[in-house]
Amino acid sequence: MNFIKVNTYEELSAKAAAIICGQVAMKPECVLGLATGSSPLGTYAKMAEKNEAGEVDFSKVKTINLDEYVGLDGNHEQSYRYFMNNNLFKNINIDIENTYVPNGCATDVEAECLAYDKLIKDLGIDLQLLGIGYDGHIGFNEPDKYFEKATHKVALDSSTIEANSRFFASRDDVPTTAITMGMGGIMSAKKVLLIANGKGKRDIVEKAFFGPITPELPASILQLHNDLTVIYSEN
Ligand code: GLP
Repeated sequence: MNFIKVNTYEELSAKAAAIICGQVAMKPECVLGLATGSSPLGTYAKMAEKNEAGEVDFSKVKTINLDEYVGLDGNHEQSYRYFMNNNLFKNINIDIENTYVPNGCATDVEAECLAYDKLIKDLGIDLQLLGIGYDGHIGFNEPDKYFEKATHKVALDSSTIEANSRFFASRDDVPTTAITMGMGGIMSAKKVLLIANGKGKRDIVEKAFFGPITPELPASILQLHNDLTVIYSEN
């Protein structure tokens, strides 16, 4: 594991964007696994800046997102499809047809999950970007008795609903279930890049990367990945 501690969120975002853009430069037709949440916002802004400056070309890149709330369609402002369109895709020269987010409104959720795993297998993820939840979740893989391998529907923990309620009008508006890529998909990525910032994440980051590997702390499985970079900034 390559654990990088930086001083500011700005530095974290610049480093993460440099790693991602480096990947695109090395393999212009690469597949990026992408994440939502507040942590990657700075990274996405830097990626857009580099694209605007002509330093990186996303025209051949494909993206596969980690997760989506069940029941929200892509026009809902809190859906992860909307988040990605607004915070990254519309700001870079990617072909929107090459961007994939699970369909939270699929009538057959099981079929959607199977199709998503087939997509991950067929395309193969070159680099997976991750944030980390306060309970150690990655994507929406919540603490559990075992690591769930496949893309699946998950009931969100109350702490996750609470944490994500800041984006909704009220806590009651936060969906209680989501579709998430499983640990198999995440671990299949050739490289994994996890970013975390803020004092509040310090404890969970320490436990996840320097403590025991356990499904009770889903991110801890990443210790077993052979190309993991973690960037942490306390500020
Ligand atoms: C959500 C997402 C995760 C993300 C987490 C942390 O639950 N499903 O992928 O890592 O939030 O978000 P933040 O970066 O805002 O702390």
